[in-house]
Amino acid sequence: MPAAVSVGEGLARGPEGVGRQAYRGRGVSPRLHSPAMTDQAPLRAFSGIQPSGIVHLGNDLGAIRNYVALQDRYQAIYCIVDLHALTSTHDPDAMRQRTREMAASLLALGLDPARCTLFVQSWRAEVTELMWYFTTVTPVSWVERTPTYKEKRESQPDDINHGLLTYPILQAADIVLYKASLVPVGKDQAAHLELSREIVRAFNYRYGDTFPEPQAVHTEAPMVLGTDGVRKMSKSVGNTIEILAEPDLIRRQVMSMVTDTQRIKRTDPGRPEVCNVCQLQRFFGPDFEELWEGERTARTGCVDMKKLLAERIVRHYAPARERYRELMADYRLVEGVLEEGAARLRPIAEATLDEVRTKIGLR
Ligand code: TYM
Repeated sequence: MPAAVSVGEGLARGPEGVGRQAYRGRGVSPRLHSPAMTDQAPLRAFSGIQPSGIVHLGNDLGAIRNYVALQDRYQAIYCIVDLHALTSTHDPDAMRQRTREMAASLLALGLDPARCTLFVQSWRAEVTELMWYFTTVTPVSWVERTPTYKEKRESQPDDINHGLLTYPILQAADIVLYKASLVPVGKDQAAHLELSREIVRAFNYRYGDTFPEPQAVHTEAPMVLGTDGVRKMSKSVGNTIEILAEPDLIRRQVMSMVTDTQRIKRTDPGRPEVCNVCQLQRFFGPDFEELWEGERTARTGCVDMKKLLAERIVRHYAPARERYRELMADYRLVEGVLEEGAARLRPIAEATLDEVRTKIGLR
């Protein structure tokens, strides 16, 4: 199986440009390219998202749109990974609040409890047992070389807790506890996914075929750049566009975006292929190529382009923003969805653990 399901039609490969590297295809919205369906049992998809409290444009374009698309094609399971978040969030109130906000955000953006299962990671604690078994097949050197571990050592030098090292092993357990083989994620998760595959291989090699090797599924925007136009959009960097926030905040965030740094004067021609604002227009209207032409000929300026993008983002997410507010105002519905989700998964988690305990000689 390839490491990632291929996506993007007529991939723009060419001049090395920020946009060209980050966004692919020509579609208005990132689409899922489904792998071949088999005539066996329906494939299961799984993905996790940290309760960061703030859903940003990178989360949606890079992953959540595929969560929504996969609901109709596979048995889809989505998880708010509070146990992972404990490696960086140590404030109990913040943890509770952000978990609520993330659950409401996902439902507002289109996860439908009738078509997928949404739950909170710690509510199905079997995953921690499977993680322990996985730690015993994973060489320490594999986790020490994980890029995110190295990054965290830099970004939180006073808090290099053991969870940061074990983080990707828990992620592998998340996915295969439910024997999921498809994992909709952004490109930043590639190293974690590869490690999950290695862990599964190591387990299967030692104890016999037990788990499928998980495969990443990407959108056409697998790496959304932040408002700085250079780094991945990420809450920890502070370069996000918070799609469900108040419109004025969205406008301020979009207006702060860095465009083509070589376009100094309004009359200079722009280079849409390296301008993050122009690249993001792909996902908010079918006319993005006309907009790019306006930039190339300096008919429009960067400020025009940013105003337009801000208004389109505000408009595109207006129904979800409304729904989010409603769900947060009456959280019981969300609570019910999460409880039902965790309950629904219990038999699958227990069956996997029964099988594993027998295979490894504990029963
Ligand atoms: P997290 O919470 O950082 O991100 C959630 C999802 O959003 C995607 N994403 C992006 N995609 C494109 N451009 C961006 N700038 C961008 N920022 C975030 C991420 O790729 C991800 O798909 N380790 C995971 C959570 C996790 C998980 C799992 C994922 C735990 N267990 C099992 C898949 C399967 C994480 O921290 O994602």
